[in-house]
Amino acid sequence: MEKSWASSLDLLVPLEGGGGRRAALERAIRDAVRAGRLGAGERLPSSRALARDLGLARGTVAEAYGQLAAEGYLSTRPGAPTRVAAGLHPAEPNGAAPDPLPSPPRPRFDLRAGLPDVGAFPRSAWARTLRRALADAPDDALAGGDPRGRAELRGALASYLGRTRGVLADPERIVVTSGFTQGLLGLCRALREEGVRFLAMEDPCLWHQRDIAAGAGLRVAPLAVDDEGAVPEVPAGAGAAVVTPAHQFPLGATLAPARRSALVGWARDNGALVVEDDYDGEFRYDRQPVGALQGLDPEHVVYAGTASKTLAPALRLGWLVLPRRLIQSVAEAKQLLGGTPNLEQLALAELIRSGAFDRHVRRMRQRYRRRRDLLLELLAKRASKLRTRGVAAGLHLVLELPGGGDREDELLARAAERSLGLLGLGPFWHGARPERQGLVVGYAASPEHNYRRSLHVLGDVLGA
Ligand SMILES: Cc1ncc(COP(=O)(O)O)c(C=O)c1O
Repeated sequence: MEKSWASSLDLLVPLEGGGGRRAALERAIRDAVRAGRLGAGERLPSSRALARDLGLARGTVAEAYGQLAAEGYLSTRPGAPTRVAAGLHPAEPNGAAPDPLPSPPRPRFDLRAGLPDVGAFPRSAWARTLRRALADAPDDALAGGDPRGRAELRGALASYLGRTRGVLADPERIVVTSGFTQGLLGLCRALREEGVRFLAMEDPCLWHQRDIAAGAGLRVAPLAVDDEGAVPEVPAGAGAAVVTPAHQFPLGATLAPARRSALVGWARDNGALVVEDDYDGEFRYDRQPVGALQGLDPEHVVYAGTASKTLAPALRLGWLVLPRRLIQSVAEAKQLLGGTPNLEQLALAELIRSGAFDRHVRRMRQRYRRRRDLLLELLAKRASKLRTRGVAAGLHLVLELPGGGDREDELLARAAERSLGLLGLGPFWHGARPERQGLVVGYAASPEHNYRRSLHVLGDVLGA
């Protein structure tokens, strides 16, 4: 097999079989087009470049291109590059093409929980900081480095988290992750290595977090939740309890002060850990932000944060602030799970340092608060009998549906008919769905221009 390195385009051309080099070249290109390896419209190297790379006479390549054009495989025009002809359908390659993975279309009206308004992503500020990060980055930033992440970002996060969330965050304790999801996986693996066999997670909680723990070989026990947040009665033997103290996900309670101390006390007494998932801690509307639990005992609480709600989930940027004993093992787990791109880390560090991150969060807090108020107005008019939960913070609230039956499913079906994206409480519970039914209404995901219309549609669904 020979590989050609044309001046600007590479083309892998195996010159095999009998009949001379020109015939072999024609056969190789014909096969590549038929099999779909060279797609319609794909540009080929110039005959001069390909001839040089393959050690052929230029005329031989030109003749092969001419022959393939005559057969309809290539299109050649004087002065233009040779291309694979348009409209060719490759023969079925070996084995059928894989079925595309199902990806549900975005609903016309989007009230799904868990997503920020990505239309408000600060593109200009991000582009500026990314450009600056690239210009200023030392060469070693392009080579890899510390599995805990860039020191610049860990430093910026340490002061940001101390200032805004009351986290005791020495940069040496921070591991930058590709979102909370990867952080949780790394933590679960590190705990498993330490001999932990099971952990507790709130019931209800985000379902994929249970799958992550199970995938890392840990059993998951439910931790009940009521109006004061997680009930601090952790099953005996659990190595960790994963909780959302600032705004329980999805029910929305704030963990009561006595329970905060009780949970931390449980971890201390049992040599266990509390994992504090602070996924939307920046968004609190009705009173002073609730500080992080981690501040009570940094050696028994792992603080976990993410840029998925403040900036965008696709950035895949998150962070763990760890007890000393876990730094090494989580950094090792993180290394196995793959790095988080350094340039994005440097850009986030610069965004935080420059104040642009705070400004963006403040702007979004106002926007989400306005949207929450509009949602509450609508609910007061169209569904005044339904109890709302978790309205003081975050990007979603829960509408309780009394009475059992199939009310949740009925409403979700009605929403789907109107292309309204909405979640029910069902999948968040650990086990079979209890009688407590509800809708989880996200007020952040919708584009701004469509939000009021989405609320109307919700009103129709609830009022019908
Ligand atoms: C409860 C909860 N925790 C954490 C996250 C953030 O996950 P990630 O940082 O992996 O995007 C989310 C996002 O939807 C969430 O709902």
